[in-house]
Parts: sequence; C-alpha cells; structure tokens
Amino acid sequence: MRFSSLRYQTLACALSTIVRALELPDYIGLKTSLNRSVLEVTLHNPNSPINLWNQDTQDGLVDLVGKLQQDNETKVVIFRSDIPRYFVAHLDLSIPNLAKFVPSFGNLIYNISALPQVTIGAVEGRARGAGNELLVALDMRFATKNDTLFGQPEVGSGLFPGGGGSQYLPGLIGRGLAMEYILSANDINATEAERIGWINKAFDKTADMDSYIDRLTSRLRLFPQSALSGAKDTINLRSAPTREDILHDTTTFVRQLADPVVGQISARTQKLVQNSSAFEVELNLGEIIPLLYDDDA
Ligand SMILES: *[C@@H]1O[C@H](CO)[C@@H](O)[C@H](O)[C@H]1NC(C)=O
Ligand SMILES: *[C@@H]1O[C@H](CO)[C@@H](O)[C@H](O)[C@H]1NC(C)=O
Ligand SMILES: *[C@@H]1O[C@H](CO)[C@@H](O)[C@H](O)[C@H]1NC(C)=O
Ligand SMILES: *[C@@H]1O[C@H](CO)[C@@H](O)[C@H](O)[C@H]1NC(C)=O
Ligand SMILES: *[C@@H]1O[C@H](CO)[C@@H](O)[C@H](O)[C@H]1NC(C)=O
Ligand SMILES: *[C@@H]1O[C@H](CO)[C@@H](O)[C@H](O)[C@H]1NC(C)=O
Repeated sequence: MRFSSLRYQTLACALSTIVRALELPDYIGLKTSLNRSVLEVTLHNPNSPINLWNQDTQDGLVDLVGKLQQDNETKVVIFRSDIPRYFVAHLDLSIPNLAKFVPSFGNLIYNISALPQVTIGAVEGRARGAGNELLVALDMRFATKNDTLFGQPEVGSGLFPGGGGSQYLPGLIGRGLAMEYILSANDINATEAERIGWINKAFDKTADMDSYIDRLTSRLRLFPQSALSGAKDTINLRSAPTREDILHDTTTFVRQLADPVVGQISARTQKLVQNSSAFEVELNLGEIIPLLYDDDA
C-alpha cells in the first residue's frame, strides 16, 4: 500500500513540474496560503468583529475564483475564518447597492460550486446567512463542536435566503428539515448538523479537525484535477442548483427587500439590541429572533 502511494506521489510531482503556480495578489477581505496544490483561504474582514460578508469579501473572492477557474494545478481549496467565534455572521446589510450586490453574490456562489478544485469548509464559530450559503455550496463541510452554529436567519428578518441556501440545503438534509430550519430561522449546532448531514463531520478539538482534513487532502492532492472536477460535475448535476436557479433566488430576495415589513422588523431589531454590541447579540441570534416579535418590542 505504502509503496504504491509513493509511486503516485512521484507521478503527481512529475506532472506538477509542467504547470504554472497560482499567483495571487493581497486581498483586503481574505488571506490566502498555497502549499503545493492545496490553497487555504481565510475569510478575514478587518473592519468587522463578527466577520460580516462585505464588498471586500466579495471582491476578493470574485478575483480569486476567476483565477481558480483557469488554474489546472490547485486541487483543493479550504475555507476558514480567523475571527474569534465567527466564521461569517451574515451579509453586511448596510452595503449601498444591494440590488446589484446580491446578483453578483449569487453568481459567485454558483461559480464556487462549479470550481474544478475540491472545496472544503473548516468551520469554527457562527456561520449564518451568506456565510452558510457559501458553506453549503462547497463540496464538504467540517466543524468543531464547542462554539459553532449554523443558520439561515433571513425569514426572521422578513427576508429569505437570497444566494442558494434554500436550494443547496434540501440536497444535504432533505426537504422537511430544510423547511424546518429555514422557516424557523433557528440555529443548529455542529453535533446536530453532523447528525442530519448539514456538515460531514463534527470534532471535539480543532487539532482533530485539522488532522482529519490533512489526511483527506493528502489523498485528494494525488489525483488528476480533471478526474476530481469530472466527478464533482456529475455529483452536482444530480444534487446542486444551476446558475439560473440561484439567480432566481437573488431576484426574489431583492424584490422582498423592498417590502415595508423588512424595514419595520429592522427598526425593532435596532431597538432591541441598542444597548449591546453586535458581537454579543449575534452569538445566539437564533434565540434572540423571536424576541423581535414580542408585543412590547
Ligand atoms: C505543506 O503540505 C505538506 C504535505 O501535506 C506538509 O507536510 C507541510 O508541512 C506543509 N507545509 C506548510 C508550510 O504548511
Ligand atoms: C495546465 O495548463 C497548461 C497551460 O494551459 C498546460 O501547458 C498544461 O499541460 C496543463 N496541465 C495539466 C496537468 O492539465
Ligand atoms: C462567474 O464565472 C463566469 C465565468 O464562468 C464569469 O463570467 C463571471 O464574471 C463570474 N461571476 C462572478 C460574480 O464571479
Ligand atoms: C469553547 O468556546 C468558548 C468560546 O470561544 C471558549 O471560551 C472555551 O475555551 C472553549 N472550550 C473548549 C473546551 O475549547
Ligand atoms: C446541540 O443541539 C441538540 C439539538 O438541539 C441538543 O440536544 C444538544 O444538547 C446541543 N449540543 C450542544 C453541545 O449544545
Ligand atoms: C438602553 O439603555 C437606555 C439608557 O440606559 C435605557 O433607557 C433603555 O431602556 C435601554 N433599552 C433596552 C432595550 O434595554
């Protein structure tokens, strides 16, 4: 076994000498680190303690994904965050032109799902809204148990997922559970997310997650990118939305933004949270959302 694995590694090295390395600029909202054919992308919004998804996040990812679409050497892309307790809280709703931003977000999410590389999320902290939509569009998701929550809280704000979250989730957890979590705007922890298939596996310790992902990528990196991406394409054909499907969601989301009820709920949110920081409020958002509907809120 060991002998043949070495032979494959030698073959992979020989092949890699004829391809060019991925060259990446510095991004404001992302950190990147390439080790041979494995790229790590760390989502890092320097202006947000809850790692809001903003224009910098999106500009960086659009550029990076454009390069990965052309790259035939990189085999695996791993997405992480280095903001304590938050993977990505959600979309920054203060972005000026959401009607333009959201369709671009949907296109990006589709482009990520269709990358020729294998994509993996390594999650610690909260991943809701756009953060969870990124994750469910990836090929695999792993998380630590202690302080991780996932959710699509949009319905609680009078909205609904606008970038494919409600189309990828049924494929992962089934229609009934997708209905339950999206319509209730409730959080799910990593243990439960593992049990129902929202994520592949949950770990007690960060080191356990990292070594599991290392072992997995050390196999994936041996194989031809064309075989990895061909297998992805056919799995996605049966289990992932098309670009048009996702753009349908971005259109209806932008329309819903104009519904007066969205502004009314947003005003109640401001009032309810005025004495706390976003950092504190967003820690247990799933529990807080129903309070917006108390009579005296
Ligand atoms: C790069 O990947 C190899 C193979 O997984 C690993 O042994 C090495 O420690 C990594 N290097 C860095 C700088 O992370
Ligand atoms: C990658 O692309 C380059 C340039 O297009 C080409 O020369 C090379 O053969 C390709 N390598 C693989 C492994 O497909
Ligand atoms: C998505 O990929 C297509 C090429 O397939 C490209 O034309 C488009 O600009 C990309 N969009 C985004 C938002 O990344
Ligand atoms: C669990 O997460 C909390 C919040 O980040 C942290 O304070 C605590 O040390 C963590 N516990 C373990 C066992 O990792
Ligand atoms: C995770 O969620 C499940 C289902 O709600 C619950 O039973 C369990 O106690 C939670 N685990 C932790 C560590 O909070
Ligand atoms: C916020 O603080 C102000 C001033 O301390 C207080 O009057 C108000 O009732 C508080 N609001 C809430 C929702 O706790």
